[in-house]
Amino acid sequence: MPPGTDPARASLPPGPRGSVWNTLWFLRDPYGFFAAQTRRYGDPCTLPTHGGKLVITGDPELVRAIFSADPATLEPFSVEVLAPFLGERSIIMTGGERHRRDRKLLTPPFHGARMRAYGQTIVDVTRAQTRSWGVGWRGAVQPTTAAISLDVILGAVFGIETPAARERWSDAIRRYVGASSPLIIFMPGLRRDLFGFGPWARFTRAREELSGMVLREIASRRARGAPGEDILSLIMAARYDDGGSMTEEEIRDQLFTLLAAGHETTATSLAWALYWIHRDPALLRDLRDELRGLGPDPAPDAVAALPLLDATCAETLRLHPIVTDVARRLRAPLALGRWTLPAGAGVSVVTALLHGDPRLYPRPEVFDARRFLGARPSPHEYTPFGGGARRCLGAAFALYEMKLVLATLLSDLELELLDRDVRPSRQNVTMGPKGGVRMRVKERRG
Ligand code: HEM
Repeated sequence: MPPGTDPARASLPPGPRGSVWNTLWFLRDPYGFFAAQTRRYGDPCTLPTHGGKLVITGDPELVRAIFSADPATLEPFSVEVLAPFLGERSIIMTGGERHRRDRKLLTPPFHGARMRAYGQTIVDVTRAQTRSWGVGWRGAVQPTTAAISLDVILGAVFGIETPAARERWSDAIRRYVGASSPLIIFMPGLRRDLFGFGPWARFTRAREELSGMVLREIASRRARGAPGEDILSLIMAARYDDGGSMTEEEIRDQLFTLLAAGHETTATSLAWALYWIHRDPALLRDLRDELRGLGPDPAPDAVAALPLLDATCAETLRLHPIVTDVARRLRAPLALGRWTLPAGAGVSVVTALLHGDPRLYPRPEVFDARRFLGARPSPHEYTPFGGGARRCLGAAFALYEMKLVLATLLSDLELELLDRDVRPSRQNVTMGPKGGVRMRVKERRG
């Protein structure tokens, strides 16, 4: 037994009682809710949730203790609610040995040279989706960043190439995403068929349609026997240590997961990045200078290595962690500061608290990309992609995509903000910019 984890001494830190008010507060303003609870009860503190007691923290030392705990002692917390959306076999749903072996199989397609093969796709998709943005265009940018990230997933993950096929898949995915309303995600009691007319019935139909398309695509690729460079092909060809491979249903659930985890998150982060870059003329000018230094049509890898662009993406994800907190359920007691948390309790790293800590980030409420130039915070001080054995599988991919999309837009277009004071608001499961960041395209100034 690790030191300090005697089950007989297990106890939970104090915290508020459950109330409808707290649930609504959390849904509307998770940043403010978490900050108020730790101010009142201390850090860590315990929140009552539908999934049981959840101990939250934004203290870097406690975050280190959680992310460095033996992965065998941690499992997903209260994710059952997501099963209809991701599939029972999704990597997000599993724990223990099953998670370890699936993750090992899914990791290689997201690494190094493999991922870079998608660089040109990202640039091409960005140009295609903004082709209609002539001088005078005005509107919210988030629907377009969403269309870009969807096309990138279709190309890189599903290997869908032709415009007609892309259109067909985008439509099916939009129907599926559009039918996944927060109400049926957060209130399982509303999952009733209602003679085929309610939101649940609509969602079930959209899921079945997409599931059928994915299964048919897998079967036709197996029949053709012509593997491509896309992530689906790589997963189909991958083998577990014992020589076995994923079943078609398992692959389908992982694809649904990559879609759910990679689409809205990247699109929202891009919209925030565009907002902050255009609020700060000096940053915009320096980013353009940095890009110009690479000459015309730079190689995607050279763009991804630009320090100020990298720092701008890092600061965007610091100030706006799209996923506000990541939780685990304890399979064994865990020593957390002066507490010993009992097995069965939940424990959560609140990225929104950690990223707002003035000891780590002076004037944390200010967007300052330059704070990320040079020294980098450690993995327990900066957690936009979570951490430990469940850290976001697509983190490198997401950052690569963000940098290439931003570089393409900043090089091709002269944009201006129409809204100066954009606030975060809930958008399905994540928090995004209210109004989607409205901008307009101006005449280029040389
Ligand atoms: C800016 C964009 C993104 C953000 C902010 C983000 C954030 C996160 C976070 C916070 C987690 C939970 C980590 C944890 O529990 O410790 C996660 C998990 C995951 N993400 Fe991302 N993500 C992004 C983009 C992507 C992309 C593009 C993909 C793939 C196409 C992806 C695939 C995944 C997967 C598969 C998991 C589950 C990992 C596991 O449970 O082992 N994400 N992501």
